Amino acid sequence: MYIDRVLSGMRPTGSLHLGHYHGVLKNWIRLQHEYECFFFVADWHALTTHYDEPDTIEQHVWDMVIDWLAAGIDPAQATLFIQSRVPEHAELHLLLSMITPISWLERVPTYKDQQEKLSDKDLSTYGFLGYPLLQSADILIYRANRVPVGEDQAPHIEFTREMARRFNHVFGREPGFENKAEAAVKKLGARRAKLYRQLRTKYLEQGDVQALAAARALLDETQNMTLGDRERLFGYIEGGGKVILTEPRTLLTEAAKMPGLDGQKMSKSYNNTISLRENADSVAKKIKTMPTDPARVKRNDPGDPEKCPVWQLHRVYSDDQRKDWVQQGCRSAGIGCLECKQPVIDAVLEEQKPMRERAVKYLHDPSLVRSIIADGCERARKLAQETLRDVREVMGLKYS
Ligand code: TRP
Ligand code: SF4
Repeated sequence: MYIDRVLSGMRPTGSLHLGHYHGVLKNWIRLQHEYECFFFVADWHALTTHYDEPDTIEQHVWDMVIDWLAAGIDPAQATLFIQSRVPEHAELHLLLSMITPISWLERVPTYKDQQEKLSDKDLSTYGFLGYPLLQSADILIYRANRVPVGEDQAPHIEFTREMARRFNHVFGREPGFENKAEAAVKKLGARRAKLYRQLRTKYLEQGDVQALAAARALLDETQNMTLGDRERLFGYIEGGGKVILTEPRTLLTEAAKMPGLDGQKMSKSYNNTISLRENADSVAKKIKTMPTDPARVKRNDPGDPEKCPVWQLHRVYSDDQRKDWVQQGCRSAGIGCLECKQPVIDAVLEEQKPMRERAVKYLHDPSLVRSIIADGCERARKLAQETLRDVREVMGLKYS
């Protein structure tokens, strides 16, 4: 059976915090059981904005990978690697750049947004303009069809789809495509060939997208087909040429906005984080000193949880019964704030416990992490090389 391939990357920001865990990693951990997953450290992407901090990258990379492993990413399930260790990404980026309209890059929303946000940096660089194209190369080189990202990244996936379509349109026309596609249909066997033709006609004549999906599913479950035929048949459904690069779909990660210690979204730039493996004393201290509803000056003053960042954490960590206890206790001054905070402290520590435990062996023996990454890079590279071979060929760079 054909299994969807998932790919996602994260820039190396160093130690991760609970916001990353609830927002991204929990999702990756779930996906690694359902799909063939590739997760990588986007170190080149970090350089597009942090080119002036070369001495911190490496440490940030290793700290982050340890956090992935600590959180429960399993190297036996998912392939973990570092972008710059698979230089094929860069070659694909270069080759794609030949057919990338500059205006497409300029209109990606993050381009102007980030330039404004990081105004202390000069981001009028070639590398930063190409950020989304590098991301496209990351995705397309593995022919990944599912990309889990947050909403902010959705335009980059859309851009990637446009690039794949453009590439296939420009380079997917092989001589005698129709004949080769027809020959490939026959190889499906009588029953499947008939169904394929019906679905194709339905899509081409009536624009029936369900028929398109059904035809693709039919190909997905067909075995014993060469890669070339598979690509031809995918392209042929839509009438066009051979599909060399696969259009990915976004697997939108629901925006689990993890609240920070001050009630704003948890983020390093707000200085309101709890790191993934932060030690227990520090966690307790941070939560105990969290601000609460300012109306509760004295123990007997009633409060309103809606005005309190601690309540936001209860919403993440507490069950209904505990939430009722907070609501009632706070509004009636029946409980004190420290009392209210204790279950949150306990829940965070409980959540972190297995992470701290899993991290121990990697902290003791960094060579374990190095070898997980080395294996992952090797596996990723093989696939990347296959795609690149096809891309070079259709771009006239075969040199046999
Ligand atoms: N740009 C992404 C981010 O900032 C990271 C990233 C790089 C990525 N390449 C990718 C995510 C490919 C998904 C797929 O979060
Ligand atoms: Fe916040 Fe709890 Fe204190 Fe109410 S009792 S103000 S919810 S910490």
